[in-house]
Amino acid sequence: MSHTTDIAIIGGGVIGLSIARSLALRGAGDITLIERGPLGAESSSAAAGMLAPQAEADSSDEFFQLLCHSRDLYSTFAAALLSETGTDIELDTTGTLYLAFTEHDEDEIGQRYEWQTQAGLSVEQLTSADARLLEPSINADVRAALRFPLDIQVENRRLVSALADAVNDLGVKLLTETEVHSVTVDRGRVTGLQTSRGSMSCERVVLAAGCWTGKLTIETLKTIDVEPVRGQMICFATKPQLFRHVIYSPRGYLVPRRDGRLLAGSTSESAGYAKHVTAGGVSKILENAHEISPSMAGLPFIDSWAGLRPRAADGLPVMGACDEIEGLFYATGHYRNGILLTPITGELMADVIVNRVTSPLLRSFSPNRFNLVTS
Ligand code: FAD
Ligand code: GLY
Repeated sequence: MSHTTDIAIIGGGVIGLSIARSLALRGAGDITLIERGPLGAESSSAAAGMLAPQAEADSSDEFFQLLCHSRDLYSTFAAALLSETGTDIELDTTGTLYLAFTEHDEDEIGQRYEWQTQAGLSVEQLTSADARLLEPSINADVRAALRFPLDIQVENRRLVSALADAVNDLGVKLLTETEVHSVTVDRGRVTGLQTSRGSMSCERVVLAAGCWTGKLTIETLKTIDVEPVRGQMICFATKPQLFRHVIYSPRGYLVPRRDGRLLAGSTSESAGYAKHVTAGGVSKILENAHEISPSMAGLPFIDSWAGLRPRAADGLPVMGACDEIEGLFYATGHYRNGILLTPITGELMADVIVNRVTSPLLRSFSPNRFNLVTS
């Protein structure tokens, strides 16, 4: 292989695909996306698809603002993908319930209700009876709950497939089963890539390789560490559906899918790049799922999997242009919220790459907050 392209994107998860789509929609030139395996088969397919900034937030900071902005883009984004590709990404707007089972849980949701109502956010306080009226299969031991009507969910595997079709139709070159080894640099500018199929010349490169981003060699630059945080999931069959809402407790969550699957998650583990499901992980998820609803015990168990969330050292996304090397851009570290951040990452990264404009929403997430200069 010896190619030339205008913009090369490394990584074909939802982040790389969304950036490719936004760039192509703006006519940004010849775009090539390079993916080591099949498209979207890593964290992007393992996720639960919750678009739920409010359910877990304890305060309103710049990260929370970014998450809420992206959630607000979702209905337009879903409609655009449907019209571009015919794929319905199953955006479900029923909302999210957050349940309290202990006194400590009640304090936690009480505080969350206080700050979010003061901030003017949509949140409803429910008694145990209210919660059970909405979702009759939840545990009768529930003491209180919050309902977040705007925290919603999407079928993330359909999202991968819609994005893949969209970028393909827009003329993005998709090189799958191709691994990038290094980014080549000359006098402070990107010049190309070395891949498992040979070299490629390009002036702009977007690093969107999830938790493998830190493994890429970039000549003359220190890498940004992005650690893998394993999350295990198990999946049940329900017919008819047991729940309508996404349901959280402080210890776990359940996500009902339109086709009757019910996902239960998850774990948060430092296990390197090992991506297997463990007996300990499954048992913890089952315990937490059972607390939410004892009815889980009788459901057919149909699948399990694990994925690696990409986490930067401070737990925040890494998005923007690298000051040290002209033509180098980062879009990684989306950790627990990469599905939620998919639409805004595409849009804001295209602003940076095409128009050289960095949105104030990205201010806290620049790659330049890390020390990238080699000594
Ligand atoms: P990935 O999907 O991991 O994609 C990176 C791609 O880069 C991979 O396909 C990989 O093969 C490729 N790659 C790596 N190195 C190279 C190389 N050298 N050359 C070529 N290609 C390379 N987020 C939410 O918003 N909501 C949720 O409910 C949610 N639930 C989750 C539940 C679990 C169990 C897990 C594991 C994650 C969850 N997430 C959730 C997080 C979300 O899945 C991630 O933040 C998101 O998928 C990150 O997308 P990405 O494209 O950066 O990474
Ligand atoms: N956002 C849910 C998870 O990462 O498990």
